[in-house]
Amino acid sequence: VMLSQDDLKKIAAYKAVEYVDSGMVLGLGTGSTACHAVDRIGQLLRQGKLKDIVGIPTSMKTHDQALSLGIPLSDLDAHPVVDLAIDGADEVDPFLNLVKGRGGSLLREKMVEGACKKFVVIVDDSKLVNFLGGSGLAMPVEVIQFCWKFTAARLQKLFEDAGCVAKLRMGEKEEPFVTDNGNYIVDLYFERSIGDLKAASDAILQLAGVVEHGMFLDMATTVIIAGELGLTVKNK
Ligand code: A5P
Repeated sequence: VMLSQDDLKKIAAYKAVEYVDSGMVLGLGTGSTACHAVDRIGQLLRQGKLKDIVGIPTSMKTHDQALSLGIPLSDLDAHPVVDLAIDGADEVDPFLNLVKGRGGSLLREKMVEGACKKFVVIVDDSKLVNFLGGSGLAMPVEVIQFCWKFTAARLQKLFEDAGCVAKLRMGEKEEPFVTDNGNYIVDLYFERSIGDLKAASDAILQLAGVVEHGMFLDMATTVIIAGELGLTVKNK
């Protein structure tokens, strides 16, 4: 039987939930892969196989999903140390650096996943890249709405050597996409590798008007990859 991409996402997600123990404070990711993990956690709670879980959602969407499943929720103010976070990613490079945020939740994801002791990333094998930006898809940057064109132009200029094009993300209808935090997303597209990721990260964050970017460098402790031939687990 051929497995669908969604089957692979679910297989990776269920594997990640094996890392969850009763009593944990859990970072709950966002997206079509993480959503399977949140469903599974809800199911195990209902069955009494997990107890005393506190979930810290990384988006309003996940907040609503977890609430509907009866998962007790909190936030980083009340629980500044998170035991384990489980989330998807848009790209994973050979060093387990990630691009995240095509779903638009990168800021809260980075806050929650930056506060956790273990960060388990779940992907199907279509997310593997040789270098970040290498999928040809967007690398998202969350920017404040004020003079976003100015910020987008500065971002594009920063990476002109990599053939960067910066585009405002649009939502449904003709309106710009607005994040849970009331900001816009500028998506960066590259023709070539941007080289030193840490330098790129620093340069982006240096720009006034930028709130956060979707490169998650040196954050994942485990990546679970589901493919047609089975599961691969990579540890930092
Ligand atoms: C949300 O902002 C993103 O970071 C998602 O975690 C990421 O886009 C992965 O989503 P999928 O599992 O839907 O591919």
